[in-house]
Amino acid sequence: MIFNILRDLGYGQLHLGTDAATGLRALIALHSTRLGPAIGGCRVRIYEDEQQAIHDVTRLARAMSHKAAVAGLPHGGGKAVIWATSAIHQPGFDRTAYFQAFGRFVDQLHGSYLTCEDSGTSTRDMDIVRTVTPHVLGTSSGSGDPSPFTALGCRRGIEAVAEVILNRDSLKGLHVAVQGVGAVGGHLARELHEAGARLTIADVDPERVARVARETGAAVTTVDAIFDVECDIFAPCALGGAINTATLPRLRCRAIAGAANNQLESAAIGVELARRGIFYAPDYAINAGGLINVAQEVVGYDAAKARDKASKIYGTIREIAQRAAQSGRPPGEISDELAAEIIARGPQPTT
Ligand code: NAI
Repeated sequence: MIFNILRDLGYGQLHLGTDAATGLRALIALHSTRLGPAIGGCRVRIYEDEQQAIHDVTRLARAMSHKAAVAGLPHGGGKAVIWATSAIHQPGFDRTAYFQAFGRFVDQLHGSYLTCEDSGTSTRDMDIVRTVTPHVLGTSSGSGDPSPFTALGCRRGIEAVAEVILNRDSLKGLHVAVQGVGAVGGHLARELHEAGARLTIADVDPERVARVARETGAAVTTVDAIFDVECDIFAPCALGGAINTATLPRLRCRAIAGAANNQLESAAIGVELARRGIFYAPDYAINAGGLINVAQEVVGYDAAKARDKASKIYGTIREIAQRAAQSGRPPGEISDELAAEIIARGPQPTT
C-alpha cells in the first residue's frame, strides 16, 4: 500500500523514525531532491492511524516540491509529520527531549531534508532542533516573520493578474476584497493601498479590521458579506476552503488571488471557476514569499535578496495567467504542469 502511494505521487523517499526514550514517532517524506535539498515544515498532529499520517506527509511533501519549483528555488519538496499522542499536551511533557530526538532523525538524512516550523511547532521547537542538527531553518536567529514577504509576493501576483486578466497596467483604482487581515492580509492591504487599490476588508477580529481600515481607508464588511462584494479581485487571506460550493456562486469578482493555503475546497471547484471565467491564482504559487524568505537562510540570509526573489512571483503568476487565458484550463492544473516542467529540467545555475 505504501509503495502504491509513493508510485502514484511520483516519489521519492519516505523515512520513518522512532525514539523509545521520548515516544517520538515521526515520518519524513522527501518527494523530490532533483533541484536541491528538500525543504518543508514539521507538523505535529494526533493522527487517528498511520495511514492518515502517511497520507498527510506524502501529499504535503509533494505540494512543497511544486511550491519550491515554481518559486524558482534550488530546493525539492519535503515534509515531516510527528504523530503525537495526547501526552504532548500534559504538564511535565519533556518537549526538549522530544524535539532533540526529532532533530537527530533529521540529522541522519545528512541535509537532504531541511526542516522548519509548521502547524503545531514553534520557533522555540526549531531552536531545540538546532542544538542537534544544522539542517533546520526559521530558528529565532533566522529570517524572522515571513508574513511581509508573503504579502509582497501576493501583491506582485495581483499585479500580474491585473495585467493579464483585467488588462490593467497598474493597481490604481482596482477594487480588491481581502478576507482576513491578520499577519499576511494586513500587510497585503497596506501594500495594495500604497499602490492605489480600493479595498473592502473583513475579519472575525473587530479590532484588527478597524485598525487596517484606519490605515488603508478600506471599506469594512462582515465575514459573510465579503463573498458578495462586487470587486475586481477577491483575496482570501484567512483559512483554507474559502471557495466552496456554497460561496462560489456568490462571488462577483473577475479573479481570486490571495495568500491563504488550500483556498479551493476541491479540484472540482477549480474547474468550475475556469468554466465561469474567474481566474484563480494557485495558492502555492502566489503565497511562496514566506518560503522564499526562509530558504534564503541556506545561502546566508539577506532580506533584500529575499524581497527581490519574492517580487519574481509576478512573472510566475503572469505565465500561469497567460497559459490559462490561451487554453481555458484551470490555473491549478497549469501550475502543477509548470512545476513538473521545472523539476524535469533539473537544477539551473543560480543567479
Ligand atoms: P493570521 O492568523 O495572522 O491571519 C488570519 C486572519 O484571518 C486573522 O486575522 C483571523 O481573525 C482572520 N479570520 C479567521 N477566520 C476568518 C473568516 N471566516 N473570515 C474573515 N477573517 C477570518 O494568519 P496569516 O499568517 O496571516 O495566514 C493567513 C493565511 O495565509 C493562512 O491560510 C496561512 O496558511 C497562509 N499563509 C501564510 C503565510 C505566512 O507567511 N504567514 C505563508 C503562506 C501561507
